[in-house]
Amino acid sequence: MTESAGLWETREIADKYLSGVRGAIPLAAEQIEVMLRLVRAAGIKVNSILDVGCGDGVLAAAVLENYPGSRAVLLDISEPMIGAARERLSIYNNMDYIVCDYGDKDWVSRVEHGAPFDVIVSGFSIHHQPDARKYELYEEFFNLLDAGGLFINIEQVSSPTRWIGSIFDDLFIDSLYRMYLKRGDKIAREQVADEWFNRPDIEANIPAPVEKQCEWLRRIGYQDVDCYFKLFELAVFGGRK
Ligand SMILES: C[S@@+](CC[C@H](N)C(=O)[O-])C[C@H]1O[C@@H](n2cnc3c(N)ncnc32)[C@H](O)[C@@H]1O
Repeated sequence: MTESAGLWETREIADKYLSGVRGAIPLAAEQIEVMLRLVRAAGIKVNSILDVGCGDGVLAAAVLENYPGSRAVLLDISEPMIGAARERLSIYNNMDYIVCDYGDKDWVSRVEHGAPFDVIVSGFSIHHQPDARKYELYEEFFNLLDAGGLFINIEQVSSPTRWIGSIFDDLFIDSLYRMYLKRGDKIAREQVADEWFNRPDIEANIPAPVEKQCEWLRRIGYQDVDCYFKLFELAVFGGRK
């Protein structure tokens, strides 16, 4: 199991992410809009969805709102996250929630019953894996997709230089700070910055350049590969089978 995976299993970290960081991701709604636009444009019948590292199922929820009749498989290593997803998506019937570590290749056997998938999504999760495993995962997704199906990764990618990375840090700290102020929390920006630079999963993040990851997808055989959206370290990229 990867180091980050263990982290996410604690309720405290899951809650901190869901009640704080997720809501402060700059342009999060726009990222989801880009994802939905790609799904619509693919012109496929969306019967089956897989959300990998689903958290509370925010991405699957967005797809299901538009394709409510679909079957969805949501997978996460964290019990508290899967619990939050179950709650969020309780209005849908055709759901399968799986607690599993996708760092281990056996994960595929846990979701194969739902394949082939029309849409595979993942949000801010795969950057916890080493690059070699990221590549394998993208291959595994390709094999699980139906012809014409889409893989979309809304993901933290690496900054090309530390200077660019520092602009991203500032952007995120400002966004977190604004969110806390809006909620009425009494907190100084310095404290928000301190929490940001000492967040528990920081050591476990292994973001890779988006160009490199798009190149991997092309090599695997995905079509129409692109980084469809990028704001510093926040990217939406993927491709079609
Ligand atoms: C930053 S959260 C993102 C959650 C959600 N996808 C979103 O967009 O808000 C990362 C999620 O990936 C999950 N995760 C991390 N490593 C994992 C692994 N090896 N196997 C399965 N899930 C993993 C965590 O438990 C957590 O729910």
